[in-house]
Amino acid sequence: MKNLYAVILAGGKGERLWPATLERPKPFLPFGGGGRTLIRATFERVLPLVGREKVYAVATRELSELIGAELGLPWEQLIVEPFGKNTAPAVGLAALLLGARDPEGIMCMLPADHRIEDEDAFRRALSAAAMAAEKGYLVTLGIRPTYPATGYGYIEGGEPLFETEGLTVYRAVGFVEKPNQETAENYLSQGNFFWNSGIFIWKFSRILEEIGRHLPGLAAAISRLRAHMGKDSWEEALRAAYAEAEETSIDYGVMEKADRIATIPVSFGWSDLGDWHAIWEAVQKDHAGNASFSSELLSKDSGSNLVFSLARKRVGLLGVSDLAVVDAPGALLVARRDRAQEVREIARALAAREEPDWPRLYRLDTRGMLDVVERFPEQCRESLERGRAMELPGELSGFERILLVGMGGSGITGDLLSLALPGVEVITARDYRVPEFVGEETLLIGASYSGNTEETLIAFLDGLKRTRKAIGISSGGELEKLCRERGIPWVEIPAGFQPRAALGFLLFTLLGALEGLGHRTEGLGEVFSVLTPMARELSPGNSPNRAQELARRLHGKIPVVYGAAGATGPIAFRWRTQINENAKQPAFSAELPELCHNEIVGYELAGDFFPMFLRIFLRTSYDHPRVVLRVEVLKEVLRRRALGFVELHGEGESRLAQIISLLYLGDWVSVYLALLNGVDPTPVRPIAELKKRLASEPWDLRGG
Ligand code: PA5
Repeated sequence: MKNLYAVILAGGKGERLWPATLERPKPFLPFGGGGRTLIRATFERVLPLVGREKVYAVATRELSELIGAELGLPWEQLIVEPFGKNTAPAVGLAALLLGARDPEGIMCMLPADHRIEDEDAFRRALSAAAMAAEKGYLVTLGIRPTYPATGYGYIEGGEPLFETEGLTVYRAVGFVEKPNQETAENYLSQGNFFWNSGIFIWKFSRILEEIGRHLPGLAAAISRLRAHMGKDSWEEALRAAYAEAEETSIDYGVMEKADRIATIPVSFGWSDLGDWHAIWEAVQKDHAGNASFSSELLSKDSGSNLVFSLARKRVGLLGVSDLAVVDAPGALLVARRDRAQEVREIARALAAREEPDWPRLYRLDTRGMLDVVERFPEQCRESLERGRAMELPGELSGFERILLVGMGGSGITGDLLSLALPGVEVITARDYRVPEFVGEETLLIGASYSGNTEETLIAFLDGLKRTRKAIGISSGGELEKLCRERGIPWVEIPAGFQPRAALGFLLFTLLGALEGLGHRTEGLGEVFSVLTPMARELSPGNSPNRAQELARRLHGKIPVVYGAAGATGPIAFRWRTQINENAKQPAFSAELPELCHNEIVGYELAGDFFPMFLRIFLRTSYDHPRVVLRVEVLKEVLRRRALGFVELHGEGESRLAQIISLLYLGDWVSVYLALLNGVDPTPVRPIAELKKRLASEPWDLRGG
């Protein structure tokens, strides 16, 4: 039919499918048959009838992106809602936009998460419904009940109107809410009561007319929106319209009250897969009645169970029956299948419990890491002034490059120096040796917060064999001694911090001191004007805040942080090391464009076997256009594979401000993640133990 459109609706929380829906929205679960997601099955089922270019989807932006990637639908066929507000506003929006293009058009409203066995019969029913819609009816497909269900609403069929496609179209007398058992039995025996499938067919113009009659808020919002169609003001106007519209379903808000309603009773093996029991009923089972979505099910004396593992684990069942066993990365459900409806209560109770009690968690921070992080902007500002007040000997100037030797929390100073001093080549050596090319034209910086790190000391001594231009920076320790013995300028920074929490001292004292040698960093004013409000915004005094929310998203996951080489790449590395040291958990980082040549291959099995990874893209507006494109493509791939990711943009205008703001956000996130992990962010026992162990076999620095 030429003017028939399919509009897929993909809202709904799917709470009864906890814990799988913690990871994936219900339409993206693989219950569509043949390993397909539900939304893909919905799409493919309607394609032969309407054609690819007449399939649309209505959803929030986040879901729309997922849908676009899953179905390969272009952005023009995705109708983006500012936020979800039940089905009536979604239908109104679709009817407004599509109706404006094709006033005579007919819309099939298809929920994205239903399962249908007989797809030919389904398409025949839609064709019949379109005929009725053509005559001005609002049509609903009524499922012929196979048992006295109490979980569905019913439609009461009245007199027959006409026949088409071998189906009878009836007038619908009314809609009734979910009945009790006795009423449901009564409906079943009467034969003219059908389950409400939630699949509706109508002309755009007719549904808008009925919305006008029954939902005045939505109707007014739609009529105001008309003036903004295709204009820049659309998004803002849509947000205002959604705020004004009634939050209600199209069933309740319109269909129950509208005129000229028709229903077509159908039997095409329909299920709305509302809970785990419904899924078990709908899918294929083995001879013992077990349905499995795991890599392998081994069952002994067990029957009629549903097993679903998002990580495709192997599952063993022994002597159990009628269970739903659902495994997701962060949660596990074991329930009696006949109580599947109550899973929603568990989901809600656990969600309420998951709200972190931040004030109680702050008490884990016994050594004041939160405070140090909050004071980071101050630390940077004061260090810059101290550095500016220092006078480095003039002989140090005139270098061609800087080589900074340093490890861990101190070594990152070299990466940041390189970002802050774009006119100078800065190389960081995290090793016992310095590179061969180092000579008199190189300024050697030995950076060790404690002043006692053996790699740094040995490499510094190695470098001193090649250049006399050298500085040491530390809070004391062997590095101070060595510098004093050899008459090398030594930059003192305050003691009593963790090296990783002293980055402001190391970096900004050096930046200030280097100004005296003619290397001024541009844009530091903006860096401070970005960092200072961030300190307030992300501090415990302003809770919950976005760093806390991000930490919650990462909790229980393994972060993989992506940055662009030579810009956010080192910041991704800092995120990783901060998460390692503060939150005491694994994290990884990689750089674009390199990761496109290896890491991405690991996506192939990521969702199936390693769903615990969460990718974070660190972005600035200075990313190379090809890196921007690569990120877009990667996001598409991740969405297609239903792999989660987070995208973070730096703040401020300058490159440096954007980069340092991302670093600062990561520091906060790592500390909050530590608290969610139940650990004190400050101590780094494994590092201390390793250093102690190595110290028991000392290296003779001066003779070595
Ligand atoms: O964060 C840490 O504690 C470590 O990464 C240290 O920075 C690393 O061991 C090097 O020590 P230092 O910074 O004292 O040279």
